[in-house]
Amino acid sequence: MSAVVIVGAQWGDEGKGKVVDLYAPYAELVVRYAGGANAGHTLVVRGEKLILHLIPSGILHEQTKCVVGQGTVIDPAVFLDEIRALEARGLGTEGRLLVSQRAHVVLPHHKLIDGLREAKSGGDIGTTKRGIGPCYEDKVARRGIRMGDLLDSARLRTKLEANLECWRPVAEDLGGTLPSADDIVAQYGELGQALRAYIGDAAEVIRASIEAKEKILLEGAQGTMLDIDNGTYPYVTSSNAVAGGACAGAGIGPTDIGIAIGIAKAYTTRVGGGPFPTELEDDTGQQLRDAGAEYGSTTGRPRRCGWLDLVALRHAVAVNGLSELALTKLDVLTVLPELKVCVAYELDGKRLAYPPYERIEEVTPIYETLEGWDEELTSCRGRGDLPAAAQRYLEKIELEVGCRVGVVSVGPDREDTADLQDPFVG
Ligand code: IMP
Repeated sequence: MSAVVIVGAQWGDEGKGKVVDLYAPYAELVVRYAGGANAGHTLVVRGEKLILHLIPSGILHEQTKCVVGQGTVIDPAVFLDEIRALEARGLGTEGRLLVSQRAHVVLPHHKLIDGLREAKSGGDIGTTKRGIGPCYEDKVARRGIRMGDLLDSARLRTKLEANLECWRPVAEDLGGTLPSADDIVAQYGELGQALRAYIGDAAEVIRASIEAKEKILLEGAQGTMLDIDNGTYPYVTSSNAVAGGACAGAGIGPTDIGIAIGIAKAYTTRVGGGPFPTELEDDTGQQLRDAGAEYGSTTGRPRRCGWLDLVALRHAVAVNGLSELALTKLDVLTVLPELKVCVAYELDGKRLAYPPYERIEEVTPIYETLEGWDEELTSCRGRGDLPAAAQRYLEKIELEVGCRVGVVSVGPDREDTADLQDPFVG
């Protein structure tokens, strides 16, 4: 088994970036498999912050190769900006970063339509307005533009003209005007040339890596509850964020993956609209937001905050086949004297262990209260260093969801981590 998949176990923003950065030194290859620039993976190294939207978080380790797979949607200008930001920090990417020629391109009109739809609905879904939904719509409708198309301007123009015709009535209906094919061909053709060295057959690189028995980390984006099939539809993103999405998104088989690690925050957050049973719209929610700096890394929006939802987490363990959980931001809970965890939902007088897909808005969370702690956790490096109440919090999670907690993050920096182990050892 050569691959480990890292997946968000909640509604995104669980801290996947930090965990992938911690695990990357154990891997030869890191592959991002889904989503686009809607993601924002925050990395803090020696107090310096870097946010990556598209390039895998493994890129900070100079010996690690990084691939952006065919399951992603790419805004080429964002991709180029990230390459330049890394170069400005002295981190070269050429020769160790590749984006699949089959990844779909997010075009200006995808972002336009995404924004106009949000405005029309009053921000019902609350998308990131990065054009993700419309781009995946084009992919599924088999009329999308792919990264490889950017390298051939005649092919780009032909496909683009047909594509724009499909969107014209939609844009007009929403009161918008599409950009011209000429403008897009000029701008995106140029971006394609600037990225030429980075566009290639990612699936082949991944296959060769598997054949060479290299260790591969598959980096998910968003989270299980935002997955198009397994999340709180329609309040979801437009891709398969779950571990299963890694197979199609990277171009590998399920037997290539040995271990699935779910990243979960020690409490729950959500950005945008949609059901959130354990949401706290009171002072405690605000305390979590302040202590955890819960503002979106892509859009800056305040995140909705709430108690840890073990029903949602149990669901994540099941649909991702999780081998282990990595728990982040445990230190943030130090601000609270007592902690609640949601162990089940109640609906129509029945106790539910798993979320009811269609009626999650209607459930009442059933809580258990656990004792808090007031010791600083940031210097803890092993589970045994944690205060007894924090250890009991972890044990409660393990007991309720049936999955062990491995690594625990106790602060934003790389160093602020307890029980870091080689994820490939399992
Ligand atoms: P979209 O992916 O921009 O279409 O947004 C759909 C939903 O997913 C919205 O509720 C977004 O706030 C949410 N979302 C998308 N990407 C992320 C992410 O990386 N973290 C958290 N929420 C996200």
